[in-house]
Amino acid sequence: MYRVGLVLVLLSTTVFADSSGQAVYESTCAACHGVDANGIDALSTPKLRGQHAPYLKRQLAHFRQGVRFTGRYAQTMGAIAKDLTMAQIATVTQYLASLEPGSPSFMADTESLFSGRNCVSCHGEDGRSSAGGMAPSLAGQNPWYVERQLQDFRDGNRGSHKSDLRGRMMRPQAESLSDEQIKALGKYVSTL
Ligand code: HEC
Ligand code: HEC
Repeated sequence: MYRVGLVLVLLSTTVFADSSGQAVYESTCAACHGVDANGIDALSTPKLRGQHAPYLKRQLAHFRQGVRFTGRYAQTMGAIAKDLTMAQIATVTQYLASLEPGSPSFMADTESLFSGRNCVSCHGEDGRSSAGGMAPSLAGQNPWYVERQLQDFRDGNRGSHKSDLRGRMMRPQAESLSDEQIKALGKYVSTL
């Protein structure tokens, strides 16, 4: 919340020198929704790029009028939306709608986790473990199942038995993963 508060202070002093949609976006929205409009996981903000302009306009109106849920996140947006002129709303929503949607924001980070932690050396870049079944294919697996297996490996519930030779190869790979990384990896492999 501290960071959001800081952003609000910065915003209240923003002067709109340029009314084009991109300029409005960069000066008023990018701090929270990301320079690429992909959303920022740590700030709980959604991707806006590639969204239909009428939908964006309706949400901005609803945030501002308190019609959309007025919980913590929506309140933040309500304060932002109240400060926009109709012209700014028109140009910024037009600008966002013109961008390609692209991939969800967690993809880039988790892709580097998946290759950085060397999962690719056994499970393959495509997650299909094409080298003949020594390691299982993970591609398209249900995220909650992958999460549970990684937790079980990490916590020593799986891959500890002395007869489980393959499991014992996998276990050290999961040992230092945080809960967050496990969640992200589960989501990531489900999209492969
Ligand atoms: C201080 C941070 C912050 C700033 C600045 C900000 N937003 Fe948001 N925005 C949020 C948060 C948080 C949410 C999620 C609200 C929720 O969960 O209901 C959100 C949600 C939205 C949504 C709803 C999207 C959907 O798919 O339903 C729209 C539209 C939106 N913002 C547009 C904008 C625009 C346009 C700007 C710039 C004029 C902007 N936001 C600036 C934090 C911010
Ligand atoms: C040294 C090779 C190796 C590396 C590196 C490796 N794994 Fe594995 N993984 C395996 C093997 C072998 C198994 C199968 C164990 C068994 O037979 O019980 C496995 C099993 C799994 C499973 C269980 C799948 C299922 O269907 O039950 C998941 C999930 C998994 N690995 C994810 C990962 C992730 C994520 C990483 C990177 C952090 C990773 N692995 C790194 C070899 C590896």
